[in-house]
Amino acid sequence: MNKDKKNKTSSIQGGEIFGDFTSSFNSDIKMFREDIAVSIAYSKMLEKIDLISSSESKSIINGLNEILSEIETNKFKWNNSLEDIHLNIEKALYEKIGNIAGKLHFGRSRNDQVATDVRLYFKNKIINLREELLSFLQEIVTLSEKNISIIMPGYTHLQKGQPVLLSQYLMAYFAMLSRDLDRFDQCYENLDIMPLGSGAFAGVTIPIDREFLANELGFNKISTNSIDSVSSRDHILDVNYVCSSTMLNISRICEEFILWATDEFDFINLPEKFTTGSSIMPQKRNPDYLELIRGKTGGVLGNLMGLMTTIKALPLTYNRDLQEDRNGAILSVDILIDSLKVLKIMFSELSFNKDKMLNSSMKSDILATDFADYLAYKKVPFREAYEIIKKVSQKLSSEKKSINELTLSEFKDISELFDEDVMQIDLKYSIEKRNSLGGTSTNSVNYQIKNANKFISDKLNV
Ligand code: ARG
Repeated sequence: MNKDKKNKTSSIQGGEIFGDFTSSFNSDIKMFREDIAVSIAYSKMLEKIDLISSSESKSIINGLNEILSEIETNKFKWNNSLEDIHLNIEKALYEKIGNIAGKLHFGRSRNDQVATDVRLYFKNKIINLREELLSFLQEIVTLSEKNISIIMPGYTHLQKGQPVLLSQYLMAYFAMLSRDLDRFDQCYENLDIMPLGSGAFAGVTIPIDREFLANELGFNKISTNSIDSVSSRDHILDVNYVCSSTMLNISRICEEFILWATDEFDFINLPEKFTTGSSIMPQKRNPDYLELIRGKTGGVLGNLMGLMTTIKALPLTYNRDLQEDRNGAILSVDILIDSLKVLKIMFSELSFNKDKMLNSSMKSDILATDFADYLAYKKVPFREAYEIIKKVSQKLSSEKKSINELTLSEFKDISELFDEDVMQIDLKYSIEKRNSLGGTSTNSVNYQIKNANKFISDKLNV
């Protein structure tokens, strides 16, 4: 290698590339408000415990507020060769107020500072997510109320099993996602613990007032061990997990709607704005938005796995690996917020093909369980009743007929136990009979809807 080239390589390594590689700037930049809020609270606390004077605190706070407005109006000059935004803001504060800026860091380390910023950032994000999920849940309930009379086939193994109300299906989505909402609340609680005041990792020598800081910053709890405070990131794993769980649930909804929008099912009409055409096939209306939510779920799961792997076997206390804690979660939260927005609008604008769903429910022996139940009510052991109906159903299916087309005398040929009332078994009968708690009868679905409305209003009032 010639000498010039060698020198050039080493200077690049020590300069631009090296700077970018070690910097957390690109993700931290999203947290400038939190970083400044933490510094302002810290300055007030230092004043309270007489480590800085009130005029020093004023000048620190004014300087920080000026920096905040410069950042907000895009006037701030970021230097992304500095490791992170804490150093950028610290440097800018020095330039504004001189050496007093250095007083702000008495008893504070970037380790507890960044841990605090990140918690504040994700607390706000969880609040946003919660709002989006709540309004999507509201939309699901509205759709269930609006379509309460629609009957559709229910499936196991993607084979028709028993008829259900479409609203029962939709309320299953509600049930899944309402648990995610509870997970958000749990996740918020885990984020709501303040690490500030832990110093580098061993605590601080100053008579720090952590209660005051927690109050100023709106934290509900204060961390109890300084080493854990700067070393742990399980609260960010929680953010990744709640995003993963919710994305998993909505990707299942997306998959079903993709199927239902096919020509083969034709149960659902997606709003045109959520479909795209093909560059060659003029008739196409592809469900890209649903597919993209399903696809982006992969990345969100990857972010969870990524952070778990980063943390695995990491020794305490702070290691620079921990700087990689936030990127994935920031992306996952944003993906989830957007996905929920898309689904909410889609749910408010889509329509169902009621007749197609009804027709599809009539095909196949979807009422077979009801006929077996009928015999079981006449005291035939259910397993025996099951065998009788299974045989009839198989025989009829080879003749391209279904049980519910049989006449009373044909029923009587199968078993003397069939009476005239067997003729009333139809889709509606089958559905309304399933009036067990959580079942698909109109009564039961209305009860679920009532409870869902209560769940939403309780959550809105928290
Ligand atoms: N940029 C670091 C991070 O975001 C800040 C903490 C730095 N601490 C240290 N000991 N290098 O995690």
